[in-house]
Amino acid sequence: MKRLLVAGNWKMYTDPAGAGNLASRLKGSLGSCGWADIAIFPPFTSLAAAVDAVRGSGIAVGGQNLYWENEGAYTGEISPSMLIKAGCTMALVGHSERRTHFNETDSMLNKKIKAALGAGLHPILCVGETLEQRESGITEQVIEKQLMADLDGIDEIEPIAIAYEPVWAIGTGKNATPEQASDIHKFTRQLIGRKWGEKAAAGIRILYGGSVKPDNAGALAEKADIDGFLVGGASLKADSFEAIARSFK
Ligand code: 13P
Repeated sequence: MKRLLVAGNWKMYTDPAGAGNLASRLKGSLGSCGWADIAIFPPFTSLAAAVDAVRGSGIAVGGQNLYWENEGAYTGEISPSMLIKAGCTMALVGHSERRTHFNETDSMLNKKIKAALGAGLHPILCVGETLEQRESGITEQVIEKQLMADLDGIDEIEPIAIAYEPVWAIGTGKNATPEQASDIHKFTRQLIGRKWGEKAAAGIRILYGGSVKPDNAGALAEKADIDGFLVGGASLKADSFEAIARSFK
């Protein structure tokens, strides 16, 4: 059976000391989680502390971003092989904050996904519509366009997870209803099936992200097409992240 995945995106929060404390607490509570895979995405400067803290446990650590070249004169960038050597096994690609604030385009994200896969990292590709797009009734078109462009030319999509993160639900306290999320998850799985086949569609993990909290996680987790969460704010406190992870139990 497919393993669920509960991931914490720590965004631009935590210094190394704070990251080490949070990660060691999670190692104690979720380090040998029997019902889901657990992953954390600290900022780059806290990766070493987090990797040290979770060593020997089942918790995976990933980068929040990467560049597609392995080395070179690219001031400020971090390569896939650098992430691997820092102890990462995963990477976030295409978070809406990267698309919006840093102008990341689908063609850049396609290169990032390919570079991550080439290095042996497991990417989580984030997709999602803005409020304006949802209100104009074009949510499905937006998701399809992002997915097809970001995954263009990729034959093996097994190592990839997809996170559906409606932009209007991120950091706003306004989560998608279980029905809204589930509809888009189903649609996404159908798209994957059409292009990569039924086996890939059944196996791929589609996470929901956007204001996931302990009090709304249970109802979302009940939906068959929701295979995990990508949690922002509530992943910065061990108690709330643990409670969210337990909602799948
Ligand atoms: P919040 O859970 O803070 O809404 O953030 C979601 C997110 O962006 C995860 O990547």
